[in-house]
Amino acid sequence: MSELEQFRMRVERFIERHNWTATRFGRELAADPQFVFNLREGREPRAETRNKISDMIQKIEKENSNAGAPIRIGVAGVGTVGAALVNMLQDQQDDVQKRFGRDIEVTAVCARSRSKDRGVDLSAVEWFDDPVQLAKSDSIDLYVELMGGEDGPALASIRAALEAGIPVVTANKALIAKHGVEIARLAEKYQTSFSFEAAVAGGIPVIKTLREGLGLARVQRVYGIMNGTCNYILTRMSNEDISFAACLKDAQELGYAEADPTFDIEGFDTAHKLAIVTSLCFGTEIAADEMFVEGITRIDQADIKVADDLGFNIKLLGVAQRTPDGIEQRVHPTLIPKTSTIAGIDGVLNAVALETNHVQELLMAGPGAGGDATAASVLADIFDSARGTLVPPLGMPVDELAPYKKARMRAHEGGYFIRLNARDIPGALAAIASRMGESDISLESVIQRPDLVVNDPEAGDVATRTVVLITQETMEQSVRQTLDQVAQDGFIVGTPQVIRIERF
Ligand SMILES: NC(=O)c1ccc[n+]([C@@H]2O[C@H](COP(=O)([O-])OP(=O)(O)OC[C@H]3O[C@@H](n4cnc5c(N)ncnc54)[C@H](OP(=O)(O)O)[C@@H]3O)[C@@H](O)[C@H]2O)c1
Repeated sequence: MSELEQFRMRVERFIERHNWTATRFGRELAADPQFVFNLREGREPRAETRNKISDMIQKIEKENSNAGAPIRIGVAGVGTVGAALVNMLQDQQDDVQKRFGRDIEVTAVCARSRSKDRGVDLSAVEWFDDPVQLAKSDSIDLYVELMGGEDGPALASIRAALEAGIPVVTANKALIAKHGVEIARLAEKYQTSFSFEAAVAGGIPVIKTLREGLGLARVQRVYGIMNGTCNYILTRMSNEDISFAACLKDAQELGYAEADPTFDIEGFDTAHKLAIVTSLCFGTEIAADEMFVEGITRIDQADIKVADDLGFNIKLLGVAQRTPDGIEQRVHPTLIPKTSTIAGIDGVLNAVALETNHVQELLMAGPGAGGDATAASVLADIFDSARGTLVPPLGMPVDELAPYKKARMRAHEGGYFIRLNARDIPGALAAIASRMGESDISLESVIQRPDLVVNDPEAGDVATRTVVLITQETMEQSVRQTLDQVAQDGFIVGTPQVIRIERF
């Protein structure tokens, strides 16, 4: 749709919504009673006139929206989060009035099944079968997308709402990770708000803090535990002597993990959230595909126990940091000192930590998921949007965002925990250590605990010993090359377990 067509649509929509005549519009907003008639006949007003009139439309709409009538919310998706949101708004209308001075009502919803019992009263609410129709409906003032999915109806409906000038709130990290820049641009173009507080770390107000709470502080590094499923599994593995598979099964039974847990345990969910956080922290375009991602499926009790002996916990971290080559974005299991604050974030809790020049270190921790916690964040966005707060969705206008410049993972520098199945033959360990020395990799410790044997299926009948090497600060590339060399030498069996170490 051309800019002129959008302008025409905006004018007609205004006239219809406010029940004005075309003449009144022309007289009051264009100083020309014929303006709308000319527009309808195809006369093209100058860009300057269009902009002036658009600004006036926005001002009047804002004033009208402050007039005290209830704010009408359309919610697409009445599942875990959507139902909690509807419940919250229905149960706490008095609080909403007191805090906000107006009612905020869910007046329309959309979901797939009309007959499903959702534990909420939807009898007085208009039902839509199509989220796109709901999103651009005249019967709502604000659209809340809680269906999920990175494309499909979620994307189509968000676009439709913004193009109709209707503010949007969503919790959909997958969609923002993929289309966030395009949607932010659309919101800016239609001067409408687009908010997504619940998309990162559920109930923790991370987005608002990063976008509006840091002044001009420059972030050097941001890291966090952003997936409750993984944190639950790793916490239980370190507290009890149980395997990854057993923990996962429990997490599924308790509802902390999906029936198909791949997205969580392989690190992709954390990657989506990190991509959003990186953009807000470093003022870059969202680059979810430009990330090193490794999940927790290979973490063994042996890793947990050796890490524990050495004073570390293992957590799945998402880390983004400035380096001389660009910005490093990585998601992987990480050894972190038990003395660090983030090491104490256990169970399904999430945390996001920042290192900046002005506010030094900041840690935000709390519930990362769950209907009520997530709906609380959605509601906070609804309040902001209903107040008419208009901030660039990604913290600065999209045109000001820098392209994301990726720092190669091979250039990453840090300490490494390397677990090997060394062949049980004389000289194997010395040969491995010697290869490390040739690559200038300094070993901090070499650990062999006879009680910790990880049987690698590739070992077959070959006798092996489980050995853990802890390196000092070194480059990822050196570690990978050296391990390839060691494998070629024939002194190890199977794939080495490599876990990165962060010292906070
Ligand atoms: N759950 C959490 O703790 C949490 C935390 C943070 C962010 N989020 C995000 O919040 C969003 C919603 O999550 P959720 O856990 O509430 O999901 P959910 O329980 O699976 O609910 C999804 C809802 O969307 C509806 N829906 C799905 N596809 C639809 C379509 N094509 N047309 C109309 N309705 C459709 C479903 O309808 P039916 O009920 O009829 O099937 C259901 O009501 C996701 O983006 C998720 O990533 C969730």
